[in-house]
Amino acid sequence: MTPAPLFRIQDLHVRLRHRGGERTLVREVSLSVRSGQSVGLVGESGSGKSVSIKAAMRLLPRGTRAEGRIAFDGGDVLTLGRRELARYRSREVALIHQDPRAHINPTRTVGAFLTEGVVHTGQMNRAEATERACALMADVGITDAARRLHQYPHQLSGGLLQRVMIVAALLPSPRLIFADEPTTALDVTVQSDVMAILLEQIRERQVSMLFVTHDLDLAAAVTDRLAVMYAGSIVETGPSAEISARPLHPYTAGLLQCRPSTAEVKRLTAIPGRPVAAHEAGTGCSFAPRCPFAVERCRAERPHDRSIEGRTVACHRVEEIADRLEERAS
Ligand SMILES: Nc1ncnc2c1ncn2[C@@H]1O[C@H](COP(=O)(O)OP(=O)(O)O)[C@@H](O)[C@H]1O
Ligand SMILES: [Mg+2]
Repeated sequence: MTPAPLFRIQDLHVRLRHRGGERTLVREVSLSVRSGQSVGLVGESGSGKSVSIKAAMRLLPRGTRAEGRIAFDGGDVLTLGRRELARYRSREVALIHQDPRAHINPTRTVGAFLTEGVVHTGQMNRAEATERACALMADVGITDAARRLHQYPHQLSGGLLQRVMIVAALLPSPRLIFADEPTTALDVTVQSDVMAILLEQIRERQVSMLFVTHDLDLAAAVTDRLAVMYAGSIVETGPSAEISARPLHPYTAGLLQCRPSTAEVKRLTAIPGRPVAAHEAGTGCSFAPRCPFAVERCRAERPHDRSIEGRTVACHRVEEIADRLEERAS
């Protein structure tokens, strides 16, 4: 029997109070991350990736409601009491945001920022925390760590600050890191360096990662498994290499055809129309209005997950169209 995954979301719905009614932001999301595994959560902007991560951290804004089950190491995250929740957030999991500058207090030094959490929770005393922060800073390629500890966030470049955020995430030795577009806000020239450092660190420490990005190619390159999200729902999950070699959902296939690396300009328009939010989707498949394979049933009836070739794919026609998707992609 395979052991239970370290982290599992089952049938998550997130709803937002809106003008006397409710608006669905995330619908029926299920995914899991095993110990030591990296999983990519991929989708266009607005598809519900950050809302799902916020639900997993219990950081959803007021007026939103999460339903379903989120389990970490067997515990039920959505019902954790105040103390357990604090422990979960400070020791078991860590979150790396897209924009480091928006998540650091500009009036505190880097050293204070890095050490106060672990000191506050009693995990380390100040001297230990400082020593460990310096060691981690060296690990992520920050030279002159002792001097950096006395600096303020505005004195650091975006790339350097994101390395500080990686140090902050690693410092309490969490078992799972949620990385929400960790390099998207950085200059293109430093994106790959920061990504490489993050990967090296999580691999060395065997930390699990849920890696959120809009970039399917990047996610496929750095993760073991992928979950592809569209309009608040996951449309395809499976092993990363298999999905990028042979996508089975038309949306995944469209994302792969959009990649500039395929060089042909016509493919940049491979997905016609615009992405929709979960609440804008009709009764049928949310991708139907943009799908070249959509038939009447797709517009009328929401597809359930189907198991095929070791994947989970939410498409009525997946068996029929699988081989045609591959032809189109080649
Ligand atoms: N605080 C909020 N209030 C209202 N709507 C929100 C809020 N946060 C996110 N949304 C909406 O939820 C949907 C998913 O957003 P999000 O998870 O941030 O997308 P992304 O996949 O780009 O991370 C979007 O339609 C977005 O407009
Ligand atoms: Mg986001």
